[in-house]
Amino acid sequence: MKTELLTLLRNAQDYLSGQELCSHFQVSRTAVWKVINQLKEEGYEIEAIQNKGYRMNQAPDTITSHELESRLVPRTFVQEIHSYESLNSTNSKAKQLAEEGALHGTLVICESQTAGRGRRGRSWVSTSGEGIFMTLLLRPSFSPSKASQLTLLMALAVAKALKQHTQGDIAIKWPNDLLFNGKKVVGILTEMSAEVDYIHYVVIGVGINVNTTALPEELKDQATSLFLETGLKLKRADLIEEIILQFEQEYERFLVSQDLSFCKEDYMQYLINKDKAVRILSPNEEWEGIAMGINEKGELLVQKKDGNIVEVYAGEVSVRGLFGYAK
Ligand code: BTN
Repeated sequence: MKTELLTLLRNAQDYLSGQELCSHFQVSRTAVWKVINQLKEEGYEIEAIQNKGYRMNQAPDTITSHELESRLVPRTFVQEIHSYESLNSTNSKAKQLAEEGALHGTLVICESQTAGRGRRGRSWVSTSGEGIFMTLLLRPSFSPSKASQLTLLMALAVAKALKQHTQGDIAIKWPNDLLFNGKKVVGILTEMSAEVDYIHYVVIGVGINVNTTALPEELKDQATSLFLETGLKLKRADLIEEIILQFEQEYERFLVSQDLSFCKEDYMQYLINKDKAVRILSPNEEWEGIAMGINEKGELLVQKKDGNIVEVYAGEVSVRGLFGYAK
């Protein structure tokens, strides 16, 4: 009832009459009033006027299951939301839930992580209440070889959502870092459990520095937050809602085209590496070239000094910008 009441309050044009709410939920006035009070305690500003009813004037910056479910379920493919105060890592929790049978479209989210993980064994700073730490669980029926493309799809969805909410200078550093004014604000970690020809599940973890007011000294040159760049405190649930809506659209088109051809141009609009010198660090060698863009498989096309164009696969290398943009 709490989730549905939130949906009704958020979408109402006018006051919602207490009587109508009682008949809608088939409960007493006291029961409605109790839930309204719980919401008020959680920080929702709800006005109650006799003979008119209830109206929500303000919602807090909260990421509880009922806040997020009231925005996403059943409006999107997200089926279940597991929200926690603290986790070691939302990716680890999503994998555990997947092993226990959680459905395609399960979203795991928390206020803070004690062991947030980045790519290649790095850690992800996850301060309480200031960021978005979420993981989406998918059970796709396509081949495991395509899974790395989901990372680019998520990067594009997040880029579009951030652009919409900040109008800022958002760029993607291939394959999956997002930069704001040239500094990192988003990291994405995709993990998979699969057989050679069958995906059990994929988890896509997204970390966003949203309202972070201070970053550790050693990260200040390379990383930032949306707040530090815009001076605005954003509601994390607004961003999450937009990211899921954008991702769902991209994902449905991906299922039809089975590759990234439909969004290659969109992705390239955000691609900071395009036409720039890049250094490719693969396990055995290090080389430089000019990034030309991506192909329909999400590989980075890099022109070597001898003119040959090499397709660089996301899983094999890291790319370092030369000449002064974020590492
Ligand atoms: C990177 O830039 O190396 C990827 C960082 C990914 C961080 C997110 S935060 C939510 C999810 N849970 C994790 O432990 N990691 C990802």
